[in-house]
Amino acid sequence: MTSTELPASLIRTLPGSAYTDPQVFALEQEKIFEQMWFCAARASDLAAPGNFRTVQVGRESVLVTRSRDHSVRAFLNICRHRGARLCTEESGEVKRAFQCPYHAWTYGLDGKLVAAPNLTSMPDVDRTAYGLIPVHVREWLGYVWVCLAADPPSFEEDVIGAATERLGDPRAIEHYQADELAVGRTLHYEVRANWKLIVENFMECYHCATIHPELTEVLPEFADGYAAQYYVGHGAEFAAEAEGFTVDGSPGVERIPGVSQDQDRRYYAITVKPQVFINLVPDHVIVLRMYPLAADHTVLECDWLFLKEVVDSGKDLSRSVELFHRVNMQDFDACERCQPAMDSRAYAAGGVLVPSEHHIRAFHDWVEGRLRG
Ligand code: FES
Ligand code: FE
Repeated sequence: MTSTELPASLIRTLPGSAYTDPQVFALEQEKIFEQMWFCAARASDLAAPGNFRTVQVGRESVLVTRSRDHSVRAFLNICRHRGARLCTEESGEVKRAFQCPYHAWTYGLDGKLVAAPNLTSMPDVDRTAYGLIPVHVREWLGYVWVCLAADPPSFEEDVIGAATERLGDPRAIEHYQADELAVGRTLHYEVRANWKLIVENFMECYHCATIHPELTEVLPEFADGYAAQYYVGHGAEFAAEAEGFTVDGSPGVERIPGVSQDQDRRYYAITVKPQVFINLVPDHVIVLRMYPLAADHTVLECDWLFLKEVVDSGKDLSRSVELFHRVNMQDFDACERCQPAMDSRAYAAGGVLVPSEHHIRAFHDWVEGRLRG
């Protein structure tokens, strides 16, 4: 065996440059994030007409809002006049319209151009043709998903199908009623690491025994290194002594009524490519969304969703939130530890995947396939 040959039990990761090269990242923006369905915002953050969020999707800033007819709309966040960014805030509220801060062109919540200084001197301007450029929108699990592709891929196959496939039973995710749950807590994470390192980390549990002491207390099988994502339909069982999915194994809050007997006292994890991680436990749902901003910079937003009556009651949710917040911090620290090394000559040909991580190779093949396509 030469030094470049790997033993049969190991397979190669992507080369280090895949995690650092701005050209690779630009291609990923174009061929992945700007082509696929992208989870942009929690629908309840846009509760009333005029509420808005701006999010980075690939190379574009996207403005998501709720219009007067209560439907969710999304547009490129660019004024059609001379191209000023329309909204610079991450979130906010307008009364009836968006006004460009440059020359005051004004757009309705449906994107139509409704006013511009001296518009009467331009009677030939078609207000729809010069409206904001719309982006495709869907709602699922209480989230707004957008797609920048002119001809979007099937939402049913790419998002719903991909998410439900992992659980074995296509209806299993519905038991958690994620669209009806309320946000108990949202935390933001700035991670100095490539988005693929974060996906790979989420997909494997080889690291669980080393870096997640609180999680492996509640989910002892994770200490063996096999992630819940490894087997279709498998949920990791809570430890006999754990009363709930909490940082100290203390009882959680009211169980979501739709959760079935076989889902009770189990944890399920789902990755919806390219940027969403869903974690299901009997009394809450944790949804992580990634916003990849640069080859070495990813922002994440994590929501903890509970029954609405639990959130409204003001019950202490901190022990439930703390468990996965710690897991997040531990995971992101690990990713940040790897990122600088991706540039090292030691990683020029990549690293290796051990057998319990072999399924990550399928993710690498998927990325490479998208970039070629
Ligand atoms: Fe927006 Fe001129 S750039 S009004
Ligand atoms: Fe982890």
